Amino acid sequence: MLDIRIERTATPKAKPTDETKLGFGHIFTDHMFIMNYDTGLGWHDARIVPYGEISLSPAAMCLHYGQEIFEGLKAYRTADGSVQLFRPDENFKRMNVSADRMVIPELNIEDCLYALKTLVKMEEEWVPHTEGASLYIRPFIIATDPYVGVRPADHYMFIIILSPSGAYYSTGLNPVKIYVEKQYVRAVRGGTGFAKTAANYAISLKGQQEAHDQDYEQVLWLDGVEQKYIEEVGSMNIMFVIDGEVVTPELTGSVLPGITRKSALEICRKKGMKVSERRITIDEVAKAYDEGKLNEVFGTGTAAVISPVGHLKWGDKIMTINDNKIGPVSQMLYDTMTGIQWGKIADEYNWIVKI
Ligand SMILES: Cc1ncc(COP(=O)(O)O)c(C=O)c1O
Repeated sequence: MLDIRIERTATPKAKPTDETKLGFGHIFTDHMFIMNYDTGLGWHDARIVPYGEISLSPAAMCLHYGQEIFEGLKAYRTADGSVQLFRPDENFKRMNVSADRMVIPELNIEDCLYALKTLVKMEEEWVPHTEGASLYIRPFIIATDPYVGVRPADHYMFIIILSPSGAYYSTGLNPVKIYVEKQYVRAVRGGTGFAKTAANYAISLKGQQEAHDQDYEQVLWLDGVEQKYIEEVGSMNIMFVIDGEVVTPELTGSVLPGITRKSALEICRKKGMKVSERRITIDEVAKAYDEGKLNEVFGTGTAAVISPVGHLKWGDKIMTINDNKIGPVSQMLYDTMTGIQWGKIADEYNWIVKI
């Protein structure tokens, strides 16, 4: 078992009283988990300490060459007041895949789960009580060597911070407007698309900003070579229901293997629905739309769970999907996943880890 030194804060913060105003990602709890890595020593010095600033050399390698990876998951409070996690092992498995791609030393998954559970248990009171609100969990690793040169680092920090977050949908499941990006690309074959690393998000900002300027909420990325195959949305995977079949881009290395995506596919398959993971072009989607066969489009991701797409803009073509309303597959997936996450329905998949 990982030996974790615990240092409690002497000055706990006041917890937010109005959980309808939590927003996302700007309030942090009282403590954080930290562990260091040094070549020769491995991961060591696991500790939970008061949340606060960390000291880094201005030459720290993560600041210059982006050797960084991260994860995102949530802790949910159930009706009986207990707290639970959704497939946290999948997040740490994915973190190790990202680590390998970014030449960062791998973590022991059992140690990470133990560290996370210990931290969340300590911060249990920070898990919101309001329906739909949750505690967002952000594990990340940064390269810390003070060295201005390009090579894999010898020293790293693994940190977990926690952030109480408001309900993603406070006014019901509103369909989003998505802009199909024709100019910029997010990932290329052989690149880092499948890894959760800062660079993938930095290079997406420009397209995202231009989409926002045109009043679109998110960008749908096409492949980086021919710009014709659909990949994913800014922070979600994408699914289409075409003539009754659920179709999603296969994982070819330039798409993040989403845990919500994987779970949604498992639910659909278990229900006996037709599902296919394959390459799909934007032309095929537009053709299905013209023929009246594009039944639903939705994103999948930890933040929104299921995000129905109401408008898809591809050049001059604007597709209005399912009358800009949530469709039956999206609704079923949303109800099933949130039901399991908040403990309202039985977890027949064994996805829940209790704190
Ligand atoms: C680029 C990208 N794609 C997809 C996802 C969805 O992944 P998950 O379902 O694991 O949250 C995310 C969010 O983590 C993401 O950042």
